[in-house]
Amino acid sequence: MCGITSYCGDRKASEVIEVSLKRLDYRGYDSVGVAVSSESGLDVRKGIGGIDEIDEELGLGNMEGGVGIGHTRWATHGKVSEENAHPHISCDGRFAIVHNGIIENWDNLKEELDGCSFRSGTDSEVIAHYIERKARESGVEDAVREFMAEAEGSFAVVLLDSEKDMLFAFKKGSPLALGIGEEEVFVGSDAYAFCTYTDKAIFLCDHEYAVLKNGEYVLRDAEGRTLERKIKRINYDYTQDVDSRSDHYMYKEIMEIPEAIERLDGSLKLEQKHRLEEFQNKLKNKDRVVLTGSGTSYHAALLGIYFLQEVGVEAHATVASEFKNYGRIDENTVLVPISQSGETKDVLEAIDYCRKMGAEIASITNVPHSTVERKSDANIRIRAGQEICVAATKTFTNQLYLLMKLAEGLGGTKLGKNISDTIRRLLDSNEEKIKDLAVEIEGKKDIYIIGKGETYPVAMEIALKLKEISYIHAEGMMGGELKHGTLALVEEGTPVISLIPNGSSEIVSNVREVEARKGNTIKISPSCGRFNIPETGTKGFVFLSTVLGFLLTYWIASNKGLPIDKPRNLAKCVTTK
Ligand code: AGP
Repeated sequence: MCGITSYCGDRKASEVIEVSLKRLDYRGYDSVGVAVSSESGLDVRKGIGGIDEIDEELGLGNMEGGVGIGHTRWATHGKVSEENAHPHISCDGRFAIVHNGIIENWDNLKEELDGCSFRSGTDSEVIAHYIERKARESGVEDAVREFMAEAEGSFAVVLLDSEKDMLFAFKKGSPLALGIGEEEVFVGSDAYAFCTYTDKAIFLCDHEYAVLKNGEYVLRDAEGRTLERKIKRINYDYTQDVDSRSDHYMYKEIMEIPEAIERLDGSLKLEQKHRLEEFQNKLKNKDRVVLTGSGTSYHAALLGIYFLQEVGVEAHATVASEFKNYGRIDENTVLVPISQSGETKDVLEAIDYCRKMGAEIASITNVPHSTVERKSDANIRIRAGQEICVAATKTFTNQLYLLMKLAEGLGGTKLGKNISDTIRRLLDSNEEKIKDLAVEIEGKKDIYIIGKGETYPVAMEIALKLKEISYIHAEGMMGGELKHGTLALVEEGTPVISLIPNGSSEIVSNVREVEARKGNTIKISPSCGRFNIPETGTKGFVFLSTVLGFLLTYWIASNKGLPIDKPRNLAKCVTTK
């Protein structure tokens, strides 16, 4: 999974692409590359690392020419190296391509291309050679159509033809959008790629392609017929620079949690009111609701079970990558896919599977106009604003807020008033204590977090953040399960964080089991422990414990000097299986 961006117009293409790549590097930051069509042919520059690391050295913004393509890579096929960085170039040096996705039959396609010299170990390079070979026989546009028909897997590709100063953007399975300006056209993996320049976009569908020349575009289908498509206005909630109190987006995004909740709440009362009602009707009118997601969004799905079951809805959650092993999908099912990006491949596959089985799809997403949203019968946007840090924080709390509101509308217990102000006060009055705790446990090899009922998914979520951001092995589990095995690992000083809403006596007995083994019990609770936590009921506590957990993982990672916003080996949006 990678980010791709392109420009065709009167500006210096490389300057636009440089800005775009900075917006897209949350999609991957293993390597970066740019190709521009200049008077002397293709100018190609690429290197290992994220855009901020190599931009100056390579002078990525200073390339002459008005037509160009750019790429930021998250390695899937082929190691991280300069040869494997995109763009890839055809043997004759006429074509350059950037690709997001996986060409599954790349080796079959390669066999047809005898005589070509391949320079990388990627599946993507085959596209450049394929187009060169086929274009000689039938022209570039036919070559693009033939490629779309023959290639298996998923792809979003932009092809630069340096002989004609043209771009061809085509896709199947992976997202691709056109940004429409005045006599200029942009291409991006998502609309954030060109949000600095235009708020008008067209989202390509599978097997469609766009031809860009002299700042204009034509859209065509797989048979080459010209298509008319309505231009969408994008209302960007894109983020500004990091907070002055921290160098990291993660910190900024945790601090934005209260305002993100307020924005969502406002939209549910106004512009998303109808969407909320439509969604609630779907949940009510079917026999069964199945929630799905990956990583953090899966943890939100797990919490959704508790909220929906309380109002008598038969609710299940299953992780998206294992979805096909879940048998009970039929026309009496509503699938609720939850995805911040709306592009996670595993989630898209779960949607396609459920569609085939006759289920309805009611999704919860953050990024506007995402593929998940477009594949759904109903959708609500969580309106958290752009989230840059790879770790999901404010989007998780907004997913929870929406799930609670959905259940509330069906008769569920109400979340106490003004949760956003309560979170603000919680952050203010506990940050120093969290910093002290971070120092206390940052050197530990293993940390356990225990919860019960609604706080079990929160425990899992805090553990995920400890692994992802703080690089500490952590397990989030049900308190009652400790004594069935994991307790064997608890020795003197082992940190065990327990999430104890008021009145949760069972988990208190699990805490005692840890204390008896001299484990270091850290209680997050309104009734005991070292933090100032107001009593808000269990639903409120879900937010408060999550926020404190996020802040703890942030400060541990910060003390350890880790690359918080871009943890190793990960990317924000996972568009591969
Ligand atoms: C969260 O901190 C992770 N980076 C990751 O688990 C993420 O939640 C997961 O990849 C799902 O992404 P999505 O919500 O965009 O589908």
